[in-house]
Amino acid sequence: MYKIAVVGATGLVGQKMLEVIERKNIPYDSLTLFTSARSAGKTIDFQGKQYITEELTEEKANKKYDFVLMSAGGTTSLKYSPLFEAAGSIVIDNSSAFRMDQDIDLIVPEVNHPQLNRKIIANPNCSTIQSVVPLKPLQDHFGLKRVAYTTYQAVSGSGVAGRNDLINGAKGEAPTNYPHPIYNNVLPHIDVFQPTGYTKEEQKMIDETKKILNLPDLKVTATCVRVPVQDSHSVAINVTLDKPATVEAIRSLFEQTEGVVLVDDVEHNQYPLAIHATGKDEVFVGRIRVDESLENSFHIWCTADNLLKGAALNAVQILEQIHQQNHL
Ligand SMILES: NC(=O)c1ccc[n+]([C@@H]2O[C@H](COP(=O)([O-])OP(=O)(O)OC[C@H]3O[C@@H](n4cnc5c(N)ncnc54)[C@H](OP(=O)(O)O)[C@@H]3O)[C@@H](O)[C@H]2O)c1
Repeated sequence: MYKIAVVGATGLVGQKMLEVIERKNIPYDSLTLFTSARSAGKTIDFQGKQYITEELTEEKANKKYDFVLMSAGGTTSLKYSPLFEAAGSIVIDNSSAFRMDQDIDLIVPEVNHPQLNRKIIANPNCSTIQSVVPLKPLQDHFGLKRVAYTTYQAVSGSGVAGRNDLINGAKGEAPTNYPHPIYNNVLPHIDVFQPTGYTKEEQKMIDETKKILNLPDLKVTATCVRVPVQDSHSVAINVTLDKPATVEAIRSLFEQTEGVVLVDDVEHNQYPLAIHATGKDEVFVGRIRVDESLENSFHIWCTADNLLKGAALNAVQILEQIHQQNHL
């Protein structure tokens, strides 16, 4: 039985974390739900019990939990994750605050395993998680040379505020989260712009793909786009392999890959759709075809629920992975 704390329990990811903890029967004998001062004192019904949310403070972060599931943004994580860690807790952090630190594990359980040099483990960027799951078997069988991503990301990737911009935009209201209306629009802009002209989201996909796959020299590029979709991200993955492959061999590999579902029957208009991914744990792949413009290159269309595999599910899978590795 574990002592578990969820930080950001009122958020989209925090709420999903509770759903996944219940669905996967994660054994806990104490559950503490933290929020900011804004939502402190709120009642959350969970597994037949009423929990009162607590404001996270330094004093409370100095207490040991077995697992702290952090889902409250980078600033909160930077401040509190090291305190939880110093108190002996294992922190699984959804923010980007620690992802690229050398001694921090960046984990997708289908792909890699935590070394636990530090007790803060980073959950990767949502679009990156769903992309590396199908890239891993390609890496193992054919080698990877280059990856070019174009994403079509749902508004729930921006939390409650993103969802509200789409809902309220449909009623004619001005956006409060995005710099432009997302309703009836497409924004080639996720997170802040860097001096290179790339956005931080694009840079995260580039850097995190290399780190998770342990391929520092892999060529990766990305264009990240917000689309007026409630839930589930779609990613067009263009991949160049080291060795020749066929569409059939790639399909067959995906059929055997845990956590991946192949939906690729264009004659019957069957391919992965965001609406079919929502609420599902798996990553869906299809539209697999040869890219005639480059040697050993293929296009893959990939969808997944950003709040599940892209966030809450992956975080709870990391908890299960550590439990199974008996690291506790
Ligand atoms: N949404 C996604 O698809 C996704 C995917 C991967 C990673 N992430 C990451 O997961 C985190 C949460 O995202 P979200 O989409 O769930 O956002 P959200 O819906 O806006 O929720 C944010 C949560 O953080 C809490 N919070 C904010 N400041 C806090 C503080 N100082 N102390 C304690 N709690 C605080 C909020 O509590 P209040 O109710 O009190 O405001 C709320 O529960 C972010 O780091 C995000 O980058 C999100």
